[in-house]
Amino acid sequence: VDRLRRLIEQAGASALELNLYAVPTDPARDGAAVEKEMLELVRTLKGRVKIPVAVKLSPFYTSVASVARGLEEAGADALVLFNRLFEPEIDVEALEVKRVLHLSDSSELPLRLRWLAILSAQRKIPLAISGGVHETVDVVRALMAGATAVQLVSTLLRNGPSRLLSLRASLERWLVEREYSSVRQLRGSMNLKACPDPSAYERANYIHLLHGWREHPGVA
Ligand SMILES: Cc1cc2nc3c(=O)[nH]c(=O)nc-3n(C[C@H](O)[C@H](O)[C@H](O)COP(=O)(O)O)c2cc1C
Repeated sequence: VDRLRRLIEQAGASALELNLYAVPTDPARDGAAVEKEMLELVRTLKGRVKIPVAVKLSPFYTSVASVARGLEEAGADALVLFNRLFEPEIDVEALEVKRVLHLSDSSELPLRLRWLAILSAQRKIPLAISGGVHETVDVVRALMAGATAVQLVSTLLRNGPSRLLSLRASLERWLVEREYSSVRQLRGSMNLKACPDPSAYERANYIHLLHGWREHPGVA
C-alpha cells in the first residue's frame, strides 16, 4: 500500500477512486465479515494518503444505506454509485467462460437514481453517479436525485470525447429554458427528503403498478 500510495501521490493525482470490486465466494465468511474488511481497507488507506479518496461500490448489499454510512465513517470523501461488474458469459461452442463488458444504456439509470435519492438525503459526503448516463435528461435526473458529479464512460466510447461538450451545452440550455439559476438549485430537488412522494423510492409498489397497467398504453 505504501509503495502504491507514494507512486499515486508522486504522479500528481488530485484524488483517488477506490473501486471495491470483489466476489466473495467463501461460504464461511458472512456479509458482516466481508463489509468489515472493506471498511478497514478504506480506514487504512485514508490514514496513509493525503489526497481525497472516493469509494466506488456495488449495489449488492443487504443494506446499501448501512454500507454507505460505514464508508463515510471510515473516512471516504465521496461515494460513486455504482460499480458495473464484469459478468461472465458462457461460450457454448468454445466451452469457455468469458469475461465480457457490454456498453451500458439508460436502462441502468433507475437503480442508481433510487440510491442517490435515498443516500443524498442521509449522507453528508458528495455522491457521484456512474452507470447509464447517456442523455441530457439522464444528467438532469441524476442531479435531481442528488448527484454532485456525473461520470460517463459508454457514451464517450460510442460518441467520442466531444459528447462532453454537447451534453454540457444542452444541460445549460435545459436549465435556462426552465429558469433554473444554478445546478445547485436542481441538486437533490427530487431526493427522499424533497420529493412529494418518498414511498415511490422506498416501496416496490407492485399493487399500484398492476392496477394502472395496460398492455397498450393509450388504448382504452
Ligand atoms: C471498456 C471499459 C473498461 C472499464 N474499466 C474499468 C476499470 O478499470 N475500473 C473501474 O472501476 N471501472 C471500469 N469500467 C466501468 C466504468 O468505470 C463505469 O462504471 C461503467 O462503464 C458504467 O458507466 P457508463 O454507463 O457511463 O459506461 C470500465 C468500463 C468499460 C466500458
